[in-house]
Amino acid sequence: MSLEAAVHSLDTLKSESMKSITWNGESLILLDQTKLPNQETYIDCTDWRQVAEAIKKLRVRGAPAIGVAAGYGLILAAKEAIASASDEVTQRANFLTFANTLKETRPTAINLAWAIDRIVTNIVFPSDAMVTALPLIEAEAKAIDLEDQRLNAAMAKAGATLFEGKKGIRILTHCNAGALATAGLGTALGVVRELHANNQLERVYADETRPLLQGARLTAFELHHDGIPVTLLTDNMAAYAMQQGLIDAVIVGADRITTEGDVANKIGTYGVALAAKAHNIPFYVAAPYSTFDFTLAKGSDIPIEMRSADEVKCFAGTPTAPEGVEVLNPAFDVTPHELVSAIITEEGVLTAPYNKSITDLHYRFTKENSSIVSYLRL
Ligand code: MRU
Repeated sequence: MSLEAAVHSLDTLKSESMKSITWNGESLILLDQTKLPNQETYIDCTDWRQVAEAIKKLRVRGAPAIGVAAGYGLILAAKEAIASASDEVTQRANFLTFANTLKETRPTAINLAWAIDRIVTNIVFPSDAMVTALPLIEAEAKAIDLEDQRLNAAMAKAGATLFEGKKGIRILTHCNAGALATAGLGTALGVVRELHANNQLERVYADETRPLLQGARLTAFELHHDGIPVTLLTDNMAAYAMQQGLIDAVIVGADRITTEGDVANKIGTYGVALAAKAHNIPFYVAAPYSTFDFTLAKGSDIPIEMRSADEVKCFAGTPTAPEGVEVLNPAFDVTPHELVSAIITEEGVLTAPYNKSITDLHYRFTKENSSIVSYLRL
């Protein structure tokens, strides 16, 4: 199936209104996810700084989505760099400063750095001038967007192979790894959508995902909106649900996966994996190649984003903790590979030993896709 055909056929599974990122040729239109589920508000970004702010504030969020948004943000950055000076050296220097600022907005999800490095290394470095690079940056940003849609589609099919011959499947998920978090159907929720389309899914149990409630505000919203049965539970109910025999498998997304198979994902994922292990429930991670960090082996080396204390001390702007109390607010945790039953990728399902299956995957990418070779060599 051609890339366009694959994307088109999967669009039938995904509601159009769920499109969180749209490039209209002049500006980047982002669905403001901080306002969901109460308001469907769009931000019209005409300046790369608005894109940076949107990524930092989680208006656009989810590892693949922030990579796609940053790609488009670089078109705006290139335009400003060209207008900022008459000489090519200053234009390029200004562009690289803007690109670095965008890259630093969120440290854990590698898709962000991956998308920016891909454009800088493949397009900007080899171009003789920013003016000639500009149309190529736009083409590469669109390619990253379209590619993410195709990767989601392939992951959905690959993930479904884990459930062949099964019906009435009950999946627990954490955070939002759906259409809102990607340019396509979602990673974990792409698999869910495929199972639903195959009449194999009974329902999804969605952890609410403290402190910012991506599970309640986004996953429950997205699935409910698209008519996929979903039951919302608070994070501290996940182990109970497993103990009650309500969960057949866990599927989550990822922000970064090391070569040993350690997985950084939304805070609380590690606890879910431990509970799944205790109940003999498979714990699956769905992620495309752009989420793998082929330069890191140990999960302990993944930088973990620490966020504002107010996210924990307040609920919808109202204080829920004493003023001045100390807060710990890591946005992500790392699930060690021993707890991961399989990793669903667009190339198929990877199993332990991950240092071998991920090395094989890396080898296939470098061999088959020359456009990412330069990135992998960085
Ligand atoms: O802080 P967020 O909302 O960006 O965190 C998102 C997650 O942790 C997702 O599970 C992950 O990025 C995978 S999205 C396909």
